[in-house]
Amino acid sequence: MSVTIKDLTENKVWLAPLAGITDNSFRSICKECGADVVVSEMISVDGLLYNRDRSLEYARFEDPQRPFGIQLFGSDPEVFKKAIKIALTKKPDFIDINMGCPVKKVIKRGAGSALMTTPDIAADIVSATKNILFPLNIPLSVKFRSGWDMFSINSLEFGKKMQSAGADMICLHPRTRGQMFSGKSNWDLITELKKEINIPVIGNGDIITVNDMITMYEQTVCDSVMIGRGIMGKPWLFTQIQNYLNTGIISQITSEEKLKVIKRHMELMISDKGERQAVFEMRTHFSHYTKGLHGGARIRNKINKLHNIDKILLLVEELYKAQEYEERDGRSEETE
Ligand SMILES: Cc1cc2nc3c(=O)[nH]c(=O)nc-3n(C[C@H](O)[C@H](O)[C@H](O)COP(=O)(O)O)c2cc1C
Repeated sequence: MSVTIKDLTENKVWLAPLAGITDNSFRSICKECGADVVVSEMISVDGLLYNRDRSLEYARFEDPQRPFGIQLFGSDPEVFKKAIKIALTKKPDFIDINMGCPVKKVIKRGAGSALMTTPDIAADIVSATKNILFPLNIPLSVKFRSGWDMFSINSLEFGKKMQSAGADMICLHPRTRGQMFSGKSNWDLITELKKEINIPVIGNGDIITVNDMITMYEQTVCDSVMIGRGIMGKPWLFTQIQNYLNTGIISQITSEEKLKVIKRHMELMISDKGERQAVFEMRTHFSHYTKGLHGGARIRNKINKLHNIDKILLLVEELYKAQEYEERDGRSEETE
C-alpha cells in the first residue's frame, strides 16, 4: 500500500539523512525509539548507474523502518531518470532529492547546495523525477538550504519553483551553503516559506531538545520537523518527543533506559553487519554516546582499542551507571 503525503507530513518527526550516521541499524534504533519517518544517507545518482551494487547498499532497509525514503543527489536530470528506476528496485515509500549538501566533493559536480545557484536545472531534475514517480503514486520531497551565501538567500523563490516543478513536500534547513553548520539556522525563513507555499514544509535545523521542537512548531507553523545532530548519540530524544506528543509532559530518560537503547543498537548493528564489522562501525556511534559525559573521553579511548563486544559494552555500562549516580547526586553536568 502506498504512503500518502499526509502520512509523511502531518505532525511527523523525521530522522534527518546523515551521511556516515543514519545507516540501516541506526535508522532501526531511531524508529524503535519513535522516529516517524526515516531517510537513507545521500546516494549519488551517478553511483547508482556506474557502481550499482555498492550504491544500492546505502538504500538497504528493514521493513519496520517504513515509511522509508531514499535520498539522491546529482546534477543531471537525464541521469536522475535512469537512477530513479534503479533506486525504486528497493521499493522505498518516497524519494528525496538533496539540494542542500555543502560538501566540496558534491558541489563541484553541480549537485547538493550548488543546485540553489542553478534553479532551472534543479527544477528540471524535480520534474524529470516526478514524471516517473507520479504514475507509481510515490511522493517526492526536496531538501534544501536558505541559499548559497548571505548575499543570495533564495529559499522562498527556490521553494516555489520546486513546488511548481512537482515536489510534493519540501524540507528547509535554513543555513546558507557558506555557513556550512556554523551559526544558527534562521527559522524565520521556514515561517516565510510555510506562509507562501501550498505543499507541506518540514522544518529542520538546531532541534536538540523537546522544547526546541515545540518552539519550531510554534514559531514556524511548519507541518513536520526533522532532527539531525540532536539525535546523534541520543536516539531516545525521539522517545521523549513521542511521550510529549502523547501526554504533554517532557519525560526524563534514565541512564538505565539509555543503556538499553545502546545495547539494542549494538544488537541491530551485529545482526546487520556481523560482529567484526559492527565493532568497527559502532566506534563512531560510541563516540557520540560517550560525548559530554563525565569520564567519556577516557572510555572512548579505551573502546577504540577494543575488539570484543562484551568488553566494550561493559565500559559503556560503567559510564552510564556512573552517570546515574551523578544524576542522583545532582552532578550530571558535562565536565569535558
Ligand atoms: C554528519 C552529517 C551528515 C549529513 N549528511 C546529510 C545527507 O546525507 N543528506 C542531507 O540532506 N543532509 C545531510 N546532513 C544535513 C542534515 O540532514 C541536517 O539538514 C542538518 O544537520 C541540520 O539539522 P540539525 O541541526 O538537526 O542537525 C548531514 C549533516 C551532518 C552533521
